[in-house]
Amino acid sequence: MKVLVTDPISEEGIKILKSEPGVQVDIETRLTKEQLIEKIKDYNALIIRSETQVTKEVIAAGKNLKIIGRAGVGIDNVDVPAATEKGIIVANAPEGNTIAACEHTLSMMLAMSRNIPQANASLKSGKWERSKFMGVEVMNKTLGIIGLGRIGGEITKRARSFGMEVLAYDPFTTAERAQQIGARLTTLDEIYEKADFITVHTPLTPSTKHMVSTAQFEKMKKGVRIINCARGGIIDEAALLEAIKSGKVAGAALDVFEKEPPVGSPLLEQPNIIVTPHLGASTAEAQINVAITIAEQVLNAFKGLPVTTA
Ligand code: NAD
Ligand code: MLT
Repeated sequence: MKVLVTDPISEEGIKILKSEPGVQVDIETRLTKEQLIEKIKDYNALIIRSETQVTKEVIAAGKNLKIIGRAGVGIDNVDVPAATEKGIIVANAPEGNTIAACEHTLSMMLAMSRNIPQANASLKSGKWERSKFMGVEVMNKTLGIIGLGRIGGEITKRARSFGMEVLAYDPFTTAERAQQIGARLTTLDEIYEKADFITVHTPLTPSTKHMVSTAQFEKMKKGVRIINCARGGIIDEAALLEAIKSGKVAGAALDVFEKEPPVGSPLLEQPNIIVTPHLGASTAEAQINVAITIAEQVLNAFKGLPVTTA
C-alpha cells in the first residue's frame, strides 16, 4: 500500500504509517496541480492539510485511491462529492487541533485589543509610542460566537473566565448545551446588535460563505472587533475592508483568507487589522495529535476496519 503525503505533517504520524509492514510512505510537498495529478495514480492514500487542493481532476486521476486523509478539521479543500462518487473515503482529524485553534483565537482577540503586533513593530523600529497604542479591555464586553462547535465551545469557557458575556448562534446545537458551557444561544441579529467582539467558527460551506457581509456589518455596533480563525470566505473580505475603512469595525484579527497566501490583499495594509498565516492549528501538540489520528485512519482503511468519515 502506498501513501502520498503532500502537506507537512508531524513525524509521529509518518512513523506509525512506516511501522506497518507493506506500507510505503512518500512525502512530496509543494507539488503543482499537474504534478499531483500525474503522481496520484500510483497511490492508495493521500494525506493532506489545508494547502493541497483535492479537486475532481485529482480524484479522477487517483485510480487506486482508497482514502483521502485530512490532518485537521476543514475538508473544504477536498471535492467530497467527487470522492464519494468514486467510493473513496474522506477522513479527517477533527479533535486534535481544537485547543490550538481556540488558544490562537483568544490570543488574536487579546493581541488586537491591546495593539500588541503594532506596538511590537513600533518599538523594534526604534520608537517609544505609549499613547498611540491605547487598548480596550475584554472584561464586561460581549463576545458573539458564530458556530458553537468544538472550538466555539472551548472559546466560550475561556472567555467566561475573562469576565465576558458570551452570545452564540448555531442552528445545529441546543440552548441547553450552550447554557452548560456558559453561552446564551440567540439569533444572529442579537449578536450583531450587542456584540463588542464577533468570532466565527463554522465550516466554510455554500451556506456560510460570506455570511458576514455588508448587510451584517451594517447591523453591528460601531467599534465592533472581528476575528476569523476558522476559514477565509466566511467573512466577506471586501465588505470587511469597507467596514474597517469607514470606522464601523474598529479592528480585525485574521488567521485565514479567501486566497492563501493573501498576496496583494489590501487587508494587509490596514493598521488595525492583525494577521497570522493560518497558524490556528500550529502547535507541536496539535500537529502530533492530528498526524497520529490520520495515520490510524489510513491504516484502518487499508485493513478494512471502520474509519470515521469527515
Ligand atoms: P465543529 O464542526 O466542531 O463546529 C462547527 C460548528 O459550526 C458546528 O457546531 C455547526 O453546527 C456550526 N455551523 C454550521 N453551519 C453553521 C451556520 N450556518 N451558522 C452557524 N453555525 C453553523 O468544527 P470546529 O472543530 O469547531 O472547527 C470550526 C472551524 O475552524 C472550521 O472551519 C475549521 O476548519 C476551522 N479550523 C481552523 C483552524 C486554523 O488553523 N485556523 C484550525 C482548526 C479548525
Ligand atoms: C483545520 O481545518 O484543521 C485547519 O485549517 C488546520 C490546518 O490544517 O492548518
